Amino acid sequence: MARRIFITGATGTVGGAVMRYLSQDPKTGSIELLGAARSEPAASKLRDAGHQPIHFDYDDPASHAPALEGVDAVFLSTGYSVDMIVHSKRLLNAARAAGVRHIVHLGALAPDDTPHAHFAWHQVIEHSIEAMGFDWTHLRPNFFMDTVWKGFAHRPDRLVHFIGDRKVSWISSDDMAAVAGEALKSSSGHTGQTYRLAVEALSFADVAAILTDITGTEVYYRPRPAADLLPILLKQGMDPAYAAGLAEGVAALEAGSQPLADAVYDTVAQVTGREPVSWREFAAQRLTSLSPRE
Ligand SMILES: NC(=O)c1ccc[n+]([C@@H]2O[C@H](COP(=O)([O-])OP(=O)(O)OC[C@H]3O[C@@H](n4cnc5c(N)ncnc54)[C@H](OP(=O)(O)O)[C@@H]3O)[C@@H](O)[C@H]2O)c1
Repeated sequence: MARRIFITGATGTVGGAVMRYLSQDPKTGSIELLGAARSEPAASKLRDAGHQPIHFDYDDPASHAPALEGVDAVFLSTGYSVDMIVHSKRLLNAARAAGVRHIVHLGALAPDDTPHAHFAWHQVIEHSIEAMGFDWTHLRPNFFMDTVWKGFAHRPDRLVHFIGDRKVSWISSDDMAAVAGEALKSSSGHTGQTYRLAVEALSFADVAAILTDITGTEVYYRPRPAADLLPILLKQGMDPAYAAGLAEGVAALEAGSQPLADAVYDTVAQVTGREPVSWREFAAQRLTSLSPRE
């Protein structure tokens, strides 16, 4: 019987990459892949990409049991809000009731005793998954290349960030998806594993230099004080609780007091058997998606 795999956040950065990775799998007949969609536009986005959507809204618990029926493994991805806690717990309740065995959770890289809110919330969710008796695989990525690329594609002459000249470690959505996809396809060897995902340590100035090389035009880095970040996030409409935790974590990065900030791991190669994507390769792959500069 096909293994039924349910991907939350299927229209988002990492969940979307997991959908692509699993649908390209040569043994794809052995998988039934369902992507969560909370609206008709989200469902049609998935259908247009050749995927099977299923209605699921974290804020509509009535949608949970039907989406999880017969599911073997779940990719648990939540958004940039304190709602991540209640959203995760609701999904875990419904998954347990539906008999789901394996949860692959998208968290964030930090030490186990991190004081910063969104990292701590992810770790509380990890503990819930374990305590509720699921087979578990915890993903702990550091900075997403994709998040920076989205801002750069919008304004392709500069990078702005709030960590001065500190180096941080990076991972692409495709590498996260490959690791997640391997764990979702077969629990064997992946249960009880915490996969730390960060493949290359670079400062924002280093990334700007790579982007200058790859695009052939000057890209500069504009560092701003970490203290500027919170009002910007609030103005952009981010949930205040998540924004405060994020700003606090970034201030610790700027101060050089964030352990693991530039840690790198060979997890991608260990799990997938291939080398991970560097920033240079990532930018070269996405170059064609940039609109030409005026
Ligand atoms: N960015 C980084 O550098 C970084 C680093 C480490 C960890 N992380 C972690 O990565 C996670 C975010 O991943 P991402 O960037 O892939 O997210 P994302 O691109 O923002 O996607 C969010 C997804 O969640 C869905 N969603 C939002 N609200 C929902 C609801 N009420 N019901 C059902 N689905 C809902 C969205 O669906 P719609 O399309 O319908 O909106 C979308 O598919 C966070 O947990 C964050 O802590 C991020």
